[in-house]
Amino acid sequence: MNKISVRGGRKLQGEVNISTAKNSILPIIAASILSGDKCVIDEAPMLEDVFVISDVLRSISADININEEANRIVIDTSNIKDDSEPSSNLVKMMRASFLIMGPMISRFGKFRLSLPGGCNIGTRPIDLHLKGFSALGAEVNVGHGYVEAQAKKLIGNKIYLDFPSVGATENVMMAAVMAEGETIIENAAEEPEIQDLGKFLNNMGANIIGAGTDTIRIIGVKNMKGTTHKPICDRIEAGTFMIAAAITRSKIKINGVNEEYLKPIIAKLTEVGVKIALDGNSMYVDADSDLKPIDIKTMPYPGFPTDMQSQMAGLLCTIKGTSVITETIFENRFMHAAEMKRMGANIKIDGRSSIIEGVDKLTGAEVRATDLRAGAALILCGLAAEGETEVTDIYHVDRGYVSIEKKLQGLGADVERITG
Ligand code: EPU
Repeated sequence: MNKISVRGGRKLQGEVNISTAKNSILPIIAASILSGDKCVIDEAPMLEDVFVISDVLRSISADININEEANRIVIDTSNIKDDSEPSSNLVKMMRASFLIMGPMISRFGKFRLSLPGGCNIGTRPIDLHLKGFSALGAEVNVGHGYVEAQAKKLIGNKIYLDFPSVGATENVMMAAVMAEGETIIENAAEEPEIQDLGKFLNNMGANIIGAGTDTIRIIGVKNMKGTTHKPICDRIEAGTFMIAAAITRSKIKINGVNEEYLKPIIAKLTEVGVKIALDGNSMYVDADSDLKPIDIKTMPYPGFPTDMQSQMAGLLCTIKGTSVITETIFENRFMHAAEMKRMGANIKIDGRSSIIEGVDKLTGAEVRATDLRAGAALILCGLAAEGETEVTDIYHVDRGYVSIEKKLQGLGADVERITG
C-alpha cells in the first residue's frame, strides 16, 4: 500500500503549476457519450478518478485512448450499444460513474446500471438526479441494487432542484440536451465546473444558456457532435497549495489559477491574515506567523467549498485561538479530525461543527487518509509538524491530486512517496 512520508518544518518557496479540474473532466468524459463522434480532452489531469471513469466507459464498449505524456484523452463512443451495462464493480468504486446515466438515456432512450453506494463523507443519495429524469418523461425504477430508466422520447420540462446538487444539475443538463422543447433547471448548482460542462456541451452542439447560474435554460437539439476541450483549472488543488503556503508560513507562487473561482477561498484566507496577490493567472500567497482564528461555514458555490474544509481545518489547528467550522453539505466530513488529533491537534466535533483550538505545534505521526480531501489535509499538517508524518491509504489522494508529492518537492518540501 502506498504512503506519503513528510518531514515537517521546512519553509516552502518557488512556484507550482495547477492542473485542470477533476470535477470538470469527470462529467465532461461522461458527456462525450452524447455523440458517436470523437471527443478530445487536452491538458487532462492524469488522476485515478479519470482512469476509473474511463474504465467505466470502456466497460460499455467505448474506445478511450489516454496519452499520459501528452495529457490528452481521445474518446470514441461510437461502439456503445443501447443495451450496454457498465461493470458494477467500477460503478461502486466511484460515485461520479452515475454521471453516465443522463447521457445514456439521452442518446439511447434507456439505461440500466448498479446503484452507486454511499461513501466515507456521507450517504449521498441520487433522488434529485432521478426526479430530474422523471420530469423529462423517463420511467425510472429502482430495485435489487439497480436503477433503470427508459423513455421513448424525452420532453423538456421545468425542474426545480430541492437542493443545488452539483451531480444532479450535471446529469439533468446532459439528459436534457436532446429532449424535445425547452428545459429549465431552477435552483441549479452554480459551480464553475458546471459552467465548464455547459461550454463543452454547447461546443458539441447543445443550446444551453445560464450554466453556472441558478437558472439553466436548455433548448433541445436534434444531434450532438464531437469536440475538443481543455477543462478549467482545479480550484480545489489551487486552494490546497494556498494552504500549503499558509500552514508553513511561507511565500509561494501558484500558476494557472482563476481568481473568480477562488473568491470564497481567498476571502477566508485573507480573513486569517494571509496576504494574497493576483497577477493574471498567477497568485502570490504569503503567510507570516501572525495569523488569526476564524469561523467558516461550507455552502454551495459561491460559498466556501466543502472540498476545502479539511485542509482549512489543518491550517486552523496551527493558529492560536478558537475556530469553528460548520459543514452544511455532507453529514460525515470530519473524519480528518481523529487523525489530526493523533498529531496533537485539539478538535472537538459537535454535530455538524468542529471546534478547533489552535495548538503550539503539531507532531509527526502515522495517520490514515480516510478520503481524498482528508488525505490532502493530513499531508499539509505534516508539512507544519515537528518530525515525520506518514500518511497511509494514499490512493484516496491520488484520486484527485496529480503527483502531489512531486509538486510539493518542487516547492522545497521534504516529502516522498513510499511504494509497496
Ligand atoms: N444530494 C441529495 N440528493 C441527490 C444528490 C445530492 O440529497 O440526488 C445531497 C448529497 O447527499 C450531499 C449534497 O446533496 O449532501 C451535495 O451533493 P452534490 O450532489 O452537490 O455532490 P456531488 O455531485 O455528489 C460533487 C463533487 C464533490 C463535491 C460536491 C459538493 C464531483 C465529481 N464531485 O459531488 O467532490 O464535494 O460536488 O461540492 O464533482 C471531491 O472532489 O473531493 C468531492 C467529493
